[in-house]
Amino acid sequence: GQHILSVNQFDLDAITQIFNVADTMQVYTRREKRTTVLDGAILGNLFFEPSTRTRVSFGTAFNLLGGEVRETVGVSNSALAKGESLYDTARVLSGYSDVIAMRHPDAGSVEEFSKGSRVPCINGGDGPNEHPTQALLDLYTIKKELAFHQRDINGLHIAMVGDLKFGRTVHSLAKLLCLFKDIRFTFIAPTELGMPDYILDTITNAGHQFNIQDSLDGQFDADICYQTRVQEERFPSKEEANKYRGKFRLNQAIYTQHFKSKTVIMHPLPRDSRADANELDNDLNQNPNLAIFRQTDNGVLVRMALFALALGVENKVKDYERAVPWHY
Ligand code: CP
Repeated sequence: GQHILSVNQFDLDAITQIFNVADTMQVYTRREKRTTVLDGAILGNLFFEPSTRTRVSFGTAFNLLGGEVRETVGVSNSALAKGESLYDTARVLSGYSDVIAMRHPDAGSVEEFSKGSRVPCINGGDGPNEHPTQALLDLYTIKKELAFHQRDINGLHIAMVGDLKFGRTVHSLAKLLCLFKDIRFTFIAPTELGMPDYILDTITNAGHQFNIQDSLDGQFDADICYQTRVQEERFPSKEEANKYRGKFRLNQAIYTQHFKSKTVIMHPLPRDSRADANELDNDLNQNPNLAIFRQTDNGVLVRMALFALALGVENKVKDYERAVPWHY
C-alpha cells in the first residue's frame, strides 16, 4: 500500500475511485449491515497533537471494517519525549500495525515518519502543512451538497474565510479543487493571515481565478462558504493570535446579509465557541445549509474507503446482519 501524505498524489480518477468506495460504506456507518473485512488487522493511531474527529473517525472507520485500533496520544506519552527519532519510532510501531494514521505539529513530520515505516502511513495533519483526508472528506461533502442543488463541482465559487495562513485544511482543499474546471476562489482574511503564495501560484497555474479581501464587506455569490478557526496554537504567542480572534464571525444575520440563500456553510471544526472568538455562531445550527456535521459524518465514509484501498480489500467487503439495532 501507498502512504497518503499530500493531496498532490491524487488525480481525478483516484478521487472518483475513493468516492465510489466511500458511497458503498454507508450501509456500515448507518449500522444497517456490518463487515469484518479487516478482521485481525491493527491500526496504529498516533496523535501527537490534540484531535477529536480525525483521531476518533479514523478509529471508528477501522472498527467498522472489523479491525482493531491501538492509540498513542501526545508526545509526552511516547519515547519521542526521550529524544527518539520519528524514523526509529516508525520502524518500531510499523512492526505492531498494518496501517498507521498520524498527526504531528511539525510540517513534513508524517513524511519523515513514513520513511521508517514498513506499513502505509496516512497524514492526519502535519502542522500548518496539509490535512489530506480532511480535504477529501470536504470535497466529498461539497460534491454531495452541490448534487442536492443539481450542481457539480466544475464552475464552483468558494469563499474561504479566516486564518488561511495556518489553516492546513484550506491549503489541502484549495489544491484539490484545482483539479476541476473553472473554480473561483474568494479569500477573506486579514492581510497577515492570507493564503500562502505557493497556493495562489498553484491556483493561477491551474487556470483558476481568485479574489482577495481583508474584510467580509460586500455580497458573495459563493456556492460554498468555508469558515476556519484562528489556529491559535501555531502563533508565536496567544496575544498575537488574539488580535485576530473574533474578526471574521459568521452568524445568521451576517450570512443573510452577505451570502445567497443557498450558500453551503462548511468548517473543518473544531469551531471556537468561546465568546471572544465564536467564528460560527450557534444561531446557524438550524440553518439547513450548515453542513458541518454532514462533513464529520462523511469523514468516516471517506476514511473507511481510504483504509480499504490502502490495504487492498475494497473488493472483498462482505455484508453481515447486525444483531444490535441502530436508529440513525
Ligand atoms: N477537523 C479536524 O481535524 O478536527 P480534529 O482536530 O478534532 O481532528
